[in-house]
Amino acid sequence: MDQLEMLREDLSQCDEILLNMLLLRSHIIERIMACKEANKLPMLEPLQEEMLEKWLEKSLEGKRHRKELREVYDAILRCGRKIQAGRVFDYNIVLIGFMGAGKSTVSSLLSSAFAMERVEMDEVIAAREAMSISDIFETRGEEYFRSAETSLLIEMQSKKNVVISCGGGVPLRERNVAEMKKNGKVVLLTAKPETVLERVKEEHVRPIIEDHKSVEFIAELMADRREKYEAAADIMIATDGKSALDICNELVDQLMKAQTEVKNGTEN
Ligand code: S3P
Repeated sequence: MDQLEMLREDLSQCDEILLNMLLLRSHIIERIMACKEANKLPMLEPLQEEMLEKWLEKSLEGKRHRKELREVYDAILRCGRKIQAGRVFDYNIVLIGFMGAGKSTVSSLLSSAFAMERVEMDEVIAAREAMSISDIFETRGEEYFRSAETSLLIEMQSKKNVVISCGGGVPLRERNVAEMKKNGKVVLLTAKPETVLERVKEEHVRPIIEDHKSVEFIAELMADRREKYEAAADIMIATDGKSALDICNELVDQLMKAQTEVKNGTEN
């Protein structure tokens, strides 16, 4: 019995050390972020993550309970990413822009880097309706699809720290813009018509351009939409020739700057 008591005592000491280390880890992450901000360094550094990943795999190699411990460590890493996200964005990030502007690619990287929930509006609507976007357009009509978009945006208002990747037509309805702004910062991704064509030419999921895959058509539709896109945006990022990582870092940087400006503005 005495031995059991001693083991329990050892275990609680272990837990205390673990907890203190985790608190320290969180604190260090916050300091790293502050340091990057002060020195204008990019927030996202995949190389660091890769190094950590290698170290982790090597350190756990051949160890008992490797799989379980790996899961614990993954949770610790996720927690670190969430701490970073919480420091940077206390709201949803709403990505808008023309088809092929890079919304899904950016939302995917952003959500994994900051352990944020990701909502691909097209995917959610297609799953709920149990049919592809092209079939929804064909059988129910565009208006029906646009109303589904509005409802989904309203649903997202109760959340924060979600990356919402909107279908290209979402900001065209004034009501949608009002709804997305209620708990989100709107980021407009832009791309030249040539870039868009290059990105979408092999895909067949966009009924609006399916039979019009030319630079002229894309340029014309883009010009028609530009004013509405720009009016909806809190920040804008041109994506041509940039990697997803560059775009995400630019996005974080611009959002943080905008936040600081708002803060300074309210303090003055
Ligand atoms: C549309 C864009 C598509 C999809 C639908 C309509 C549009 O989304 O919502 O085909 O009107 O621009 P992506 O921008 O994700 O391709």
